[in-house]
Amino acid sequence: MKITKICCIGAGYVGGPTMAVIAQKCPHIQVTVVDLNEQRIADWNDPNPENIPIYEPGLSEIVAEARGRNLFFSTDVDKAIDEAQMIFISVNTPTKTYGKGKGMAADLKYIELCARQIARVAKQNKIVVEKSTLPVRTAEAIKSILDNTGNGVQFQILSNPEFLAEGTAVTDLLNPDRILIGGDTTEEGEEAINALVDVYSNWVSRDRILTTNVWSSELSKLTANAFLAQRISSINAMSELCEKTGADVNEVARAIGMDSRIGPKFLKASVGFGGSCFQKDILNLVYIAKSYGLNEVADYWEQVIIMNDHQKRRFSNKIVQTLYNTVADKKITFLGWAFKKDTNDTRESAAIYVADDLINEQAKISVFDPKVSKNKMLNDLDYLETRISQENIDALSVFENAYEACKGAHAIAILTEWDEFTTYDWKKIYDSMHKPAFVFDGRNILNAKQLESIGFVYNGIGS
Ligand code: NAD
Ligand code: UGA
Repeated sequence: MKITKICCIGAGYVGGPTMAVIAQKCPHIQVTVVDLNEQRIADWNDPNPENIPIYEPGLSEIVAEARGRNLFFSTDVDKAIDEAQMIFISVNTPTKTYGKGKGMAADLKYIELCARQIARVAKQNKIVVEKSTLPVRTAEAIKSILDNTGNGVQFQILSNPEFLAEGTAVTDLLNPDRILIGGDTTEEGEEAINALVDVYSNWVSRDRILTTNVWSSELSKLTANAFLAQRISSINAMSELCEKTGADVNEVARAIGMDSRIGPKFLKASVGFGGSCFQKDILNLVYIAKSYGLNEVADYWEQVIIMNDHQKRRFSNKIVQTLYNTVADKKITFLGWAFKKDTNDTRESAAIYVADDLINEQAKISVFDPKVSKNKMLNDLDYLETRISQENIDALSVFENAYEACKGAHAIAILTEWDEFTTYDWKKIYDSMHKPAFVFDGRNILNAKQLESIGFVYNGIGS
């Protein structure tokens, strides 16, 4: 089957960039990205590609090239489903906040709504592709809904998880380590797999396209995120031991990373991992293990989250302790709010939790982040529901410029590893601060020796 029309449900951090790259690399395929969120679609259609709702290096250029040619953003979900031969489901799958599995299981209500809508609308055979990250065996539920509520047409379900990381989405999509496609081993299943392989083959070499059964593909995505997050919790656990023993975690990471079996990536100690996925996917894995009665497996993976929560709390405690056990009415400046550099995404960012702890201690928080708006920061704090909105507004000031944000501060905390922070005139910042002037480098990006020679009291992670 030759695919000429694709629909993607969900114009978020995955749907938007992934479809933009497919459209760029496959000009013969019409790609329509749909979403219920009218504002989001309006933003994707903003005449100025710089104003698209997601900031990713290189993305606005791709959107500028393909939009209106073979890339479209629309709120007409039914029409896009009806026209497409292949439908990607790329909606959010957050942790459940209610009922059975609350706080752990993935909430599949958006996935089910998509399946029901596809079943209702489809009048021809369709290939349905799970792009969202899903619990293993979700394809079974989707298939059951499609087959039992549809119009008698045939559906093939593929699992095609996305491995892009935010901040590097475009390069990850253009040069993926691998593309994973899971499908049925029947003749129709293989035909569907081949149709999707053909789409990716337009720019990804065949030896990087891996095909498996559906369950392996679904579970591989959760496994990949669990392994990645586990490395961060492992090095963060060592960072605390380093602080007690005089070892330096950066040196330890370098030493173990040179072992080719361990490898150097994802060994950067930090204030803790954030982002919309690591925590939710591990909790989901823990829930799945528990639901099969595999309590030791569940406990093993849960420890990754426990360690991460500890690391965030440890960072805020250290600030309070170092500032003579009180931060009440002191100005603490955060450089960075996003969960990592080169993204405007703040979901589960460590900054939110550290700010919450310090506001509880009655600190005044000033923030500068190159890409995050004040509204987003306030929404993040309001979401925790620790205090009423007005109290968050009173405790948080947001600046357009790092130098202004640091003026009169008692301490600076680095929460995101934005490159520009390393290029600042730190002497100028030091001169504008209360003394002694403290830096808490939650990302280990600054030059400790240089800052100490200026006069700062420097605290990194794990040294
Ligand atoms: P997101 O919240 O940015 O986007 C999801 C979009 O789906 C939203 O705009 C929402 O309005 C829309 N939506 C929800 N239900 C809908 C429906 N019934 N019809 C139409 N639109 C609907 O989420 P995201 O970050 O893009 O993540 C999507 C999925 O991809 C999740 O399962 C996530 O785990 C996975 N994932 C995310 C990343 C990442 O870097 N963010 C990477 C790999 C995988
Ligand atoms: C992660 C995975 O890397 C992607 O492969 C996956 O597709 C995605 O989750 C997903 O499923 O959503 P992402 O969360 O966007 O991508 O970004 P990462 O680069 O993995 O960083 C996650 C967090 O870990 C960030 O807060 C980052 O600062 C932190 N981190 C990362 C560290 O603290 N140390 C490291 O060594 C690496």
